[in-house]
Amino acid sequence: MSAVRTNQRLLSADAVAKIERECGKYPPEQRQSAVMSALRIAQDEHRWLSNELMEEVAGVLNMPPVWVYEVATFYGMYDLKPVGKHKVVICTNLPCALSGSEHAAEHLKAKLGCGFGETSASGITLKEGECMGACGDAPVLIVDNKRMCSFMSDEKIDQLLADLVSGTKGKSGT
Ligand code: FES
Repeated sequence: MSAVRTNQRLLSADAVAKIERECGKYPPEQRQSAVMSALRIAQDEHRWLSNELMEEVAGVLNMPPVWVYEVATFYGMYDLKPVGKHKVVICTNLPCALSGSEHAAEHLKAKLGCGFGETSASGITLKEGECMGACGDAPVLIVDNKRMCSFMSDEKIDQLLADLVSGTKGKSGT
């Protein structure tokens, strides 16, 4: 069964093609199985997921918008509000908290001059995250949903933030 296309005003043709490619990994009647990939593609394109954007994703997947919204609100990697040029998410769950993440989080807040859920003047959004499956590497953080940084000392955090602000890749936190 082909998708019911609503008026796509926000998703580009390229994004829709990528979502269709993800849908192709599942039986035709289970297009909704691609919802997490579709949300990632939509967020990569728009940086955050507005209600209108999620409705368009639902249209491509031929599923109720509320189901898309339920997925987007359950997982922490989806942003339902605008974020800065970069996003840093630090795990503060107990295993990491016992291994320095609380100190790292405070260092991040001090260096960025903002708290969790806020964006620094330099354009970096700081978020508190759940376990990232790398508890032995604490303090652990993820940059822009795709780059995991382990054993983040104050010095490595400083270098990471400098790299993000300057736009250089650097070797921080790898
Ligand atoms: S508790 Fe932090 S990565 Fe698992």
